[in-house]
Amino acid sequence: MTKVIHKINQEVYSEDTCLIPTMGSLHKGHTTLFEQAKATPHAKIIVSIFVNRKQFNDKKDFDNYPIDIDNDIKLLEKVNVDYIFIPDESYIYPNKKILDVSSGAIGMQYEGKYREGHFDGVLTVVNRLFELINPSAAIFGRKDAQQLFLIKEMVNQFKKNIKIYEGKLIRETSGLAMSSRNLLLSDEAKKNASNIYKILLNTKNFYQNSKSISKSVSHGKTLFEKMEISYDYLDIVDVNSFRTPDKNTEKLLLITAGYVENIRLIDNLEI
Ligand code: PAJ
Repeated sequence: MTKVIHKINQEVYSEDTCLIPTMGSLHKGHTTLFEQAKATPHAKIIVSIFVNRKQFNDKKDFDNYPIDIDNDIKLLEKVNVDYIFIPDESYIYPNKKILDVSSGAIGMQYEGKYREGHFDGVLTVVNRLFELINPSAAIFGRKDAQQLFLIKEMVNQFKKNIKIYEGKLIRETSGLAMSSRNLLLSDEAKKNASNIYKILLNTKNFYQNSKSISKSVSHGKTLFEKMEISYDYLDIVDVNSFRTPDKNTEKLLLITAGYVENIRLIDNLEI
């Protein structure tokens, strides 16, 4: 039986839980994480739904973020998670001082460069959820690769005893990375947005032939320009450091953020 809760009681706090934090408007990218949680050895699954004002640098973006709680609850009951945690803002951010987490140098790159303070807001809310819920584990998707990297870094730095599981990036059949923001796109824009994945695939192919990071990055940017899609960045980083790859790099990640109909879409591909 799925229980909707608005506060964490001692029972939930002391259980062996696997937490999946979300901002709602759930889609298949999220449900894949819930299914993955069910396959972990943890006793209970808890999904939080909280649209975190602190991680939006743009008030309009926060106001426009899609919300569909009734549908989300129905979906989570179907998946049969144990708890749906829907807190009030005053419970997450009470007047008493809560820890403001800083995301450091990597938090100011890429997503953080174009969305100032975004990752400080993400880490602050995730840390708050960890403190309230005391989970044994948590799952985050690779769709938000930089977020995943920074959360793993925070867990290590704060020496938290929380196992972090990674969920693979789930796409529409068109290749478009699933996102709650896709609900804001017209059908025409969705078609155009799938070109972002095509650009990543083409750039991966270019890298595999050229073995040159700088040439591949320039090639990818040219493709954005040819397709008349505006973008904030396209780069290749070391997946384990989120820095420029060097001789010790084991895995490369191609990362990008583009705009279709003024909706900001992020994507990435291992190369
Ligand atoms: P949200 O965008 O709702 O995503 C919740 C989780 O689902 C994140 O771990 C995200 O990486 C994962 N996810 C979203 N789309 C996915 C896809 N297409 N494939 C795989 N995983 C996907 O990310 C957030 O919320 C917030 O920043 C949060 C961590 C909840 C903090 O407020």
